[in-house]
Amino acid sequence: MTIGILGGTGPAGKALAARLSSLGMEVRLGSRQAERATEVAATLKDRWPDRRLTLTGVVNEEACDSDLVVIATPWDGAATTAARLSGRLAGKVVISMANALAKVGDELQALVPPRGSVTVAVQQAAPEALVAGAFHHVPARGLGDLDEPLDADVLVCSDHERATTATIELVDAIPGLRGVDAGTLSAAAAIEAFTAVLIGINLKHRVHSSIRLTGFDR
Ligand SMILES: NC(=O)c1ccc[n+]([C@@H]2O[C@H](COP(=O)([O-])OP(=O)(O)OC[C@H]3O[C@@H](n4cnc5c(N)ncnc54)[C@H](OP(=O)(O)O)[C@@H]3O)[C@@H](O)[C@H]2O)c1
Repeated sequence: MTIGILGGTGPAGKALAARLSSLGMEVRLGSRQAERATEVAATLKDRWPDRRLTLTGVVNEEACDSDLVVIATPWDGAATTAARLSGRLAGKVVISMANALAKVGDELQALVPPRGSVTVAVQQAAPEALVAGAFHHVPARGLGDLDEPLDADVLVCSDHERATTATIELVDAIPGLRGVDAGTLSAAAAIEAFTAVLIGINLKHRVHSSIRLTGFDR
C-alpha cells in the first residue's frame, strides 16, 4: 500500500510518515520543494535507523501517485493544494487532517473556515476525489515518537463509503488507534473545532490527553 502525504515536511506529516512507514507501508513524503522533501525523509530515517522506514521524499505532485493521499498542510493551504492537484487526486481516497485554529492570547481558538470546515472545502476543491476527514485530534508529538504506544480513537467522516472504509482500515492498521465512523462530512466542522478544546485541555492541565469513546464496542 502506498501513502502520499502532501505537506509531509511539517510535524504532522512527518509523524504520520514515520508511523506508517514503520509499519511497512510505502510512504511518499511530499513537499512543494523536492530538496526539502528529500532532506526531511533522510532526517526521519536517521532518527530511526533500526526501523527501516519505507519512505521517500518527493514533490507533492508525485506524492499524489499513491493509493491513498493525506493532506497535512496548514488549514489555509489545504483546499488550494487540493484544487491545484485535483486532476491527480481524482478517484483517490484523500484524507484531510487540517484544523482551522488561530492563536488568540494564550489560547488556540477554532475558526470557521470557508465552507464551514477544511474537509468540506477540500472535497469541493477536488470534487472527483473521495475525501475523508481523520487524524485531527492525534498530536504529532506522540504519533511521531515510534517508541511511544498510542491510545486513541480517530473520528473519520466522509460522504463516500469507500473513503470511510479505507481510512478506518488505515487508522486500524496503526497499533493503539481505532478508527470510528463519525458520519458524513457534515461532522467535519465539529470534529475540527473540537481540536481547539482538546489542545486547550492539554495546555491547561499540562497533559497529553486524547479522545477515547466509551460504550462503543465494535
Ligand atoms: N501538529 C499537530 O500535532 C497536528 C495534529 C493533528 C492535525 N494537525 C493538522 O495537520 C496540518 C499540518 O500540521 P503541521 O503542524 O505539520 O503544519 P505546518 O508545519 O505548518 O505545515 C506542514 C507543511 O505544509 C507545507 N505548507 C505550508 N504552507 C503551505 C501552503 N500555503 N500550501 C501548501 N503547503 C503548505 C509546508 O511544507 P513544504 O514547504 O515542504 O511544502 C509545511 O512543512 C495542520 O492543518 C494541523 O491543523 C496537526
